Amino acid sequence: MASSPIIIFGLLALSFSLAFATDPSPLQDFCVSDAKSQVLVNGVTCKDPKLVQAEDFFFSGLHLPGNTSNPVGSKVTPVTVAQLPGLNTLGVAVARVDYVPWGVNPPHLHPRASEVLTVLEGTLEAGFVTSNPENRHITKVLKKGDAFVFPKGLIHYQRNIGSTHAVAIAALSSQNPGVITIANAVFGSNPDIRSDVLVKAFHLDNNVVKYLQSKF
Ligand SMILES: *[C@@H]1O[C@H](CO)[C@@H](O)[C@H](O)[C@H]1NC(C)=O
Repeated sequence: MASSPIIIFGLLALSFSLAFATDPSPLQDFCVSDAKSQVLVNGVTCKDPKLVQAEDFFFSGLHLPGNTSNPVGSKVTPVTVAQLPGLNTLGVAVARVDYVPWGVNPPHLHPRASEVLTVLEGTLEAGFVTSNPENRHITKVLKKGDAFVFPKGLIHYQRNIGSTHAVAIAALSSQNPGVITIANAVFGSNPDIRSDVLVKAFHLDNNVVKYLQSKF
């Protein structure tokens, strides 16, 4: 068939665009999210550009510590498209993270973003684990002014190893990075993953699985 080279080229182009998929590039200066729109698209629909205000590109509050009174002793204050409508289609987001001494930002991953974490105050131990089969644990102590990158989709964590409150700012390569907290997803899913699956997966007794499920 005469058109087959074109079809093959088209399929190749499609597979490359999927292989390098990230947040789509903007096709206009901005597309401020219209929270009231009922239209479902990949991202959020745009407000009429004529109605856009400076406030749409603005978020205030990253000077405020998050509330760390919780079992892990850390708090993430996200600034994604949900909090800052002007981020829609732009492929970036930030977050503030607060940690009490020995507080932990527990192992989690962002399905749609790499992350650069910059320490503003305190000392953190940070790490991530590479994919199978190596599962190499790459870890580093970070001091004020240090930056560390967590590659997209890899499980990572931080722990405050200093005696003072710690603060970091995360820059993320998606307007909507998403968060999967490993323990919550595995032991706290709704409805539960059958305990038999978790017994085999984690090499645990059934009563330990039941105990862990009760905790999340
Ligand atoms: C912080 O969170 C705790 C636990 O949810 C709550 O009891 C407390 O009132 C919060 N503190 C502030 C200042 O919001």
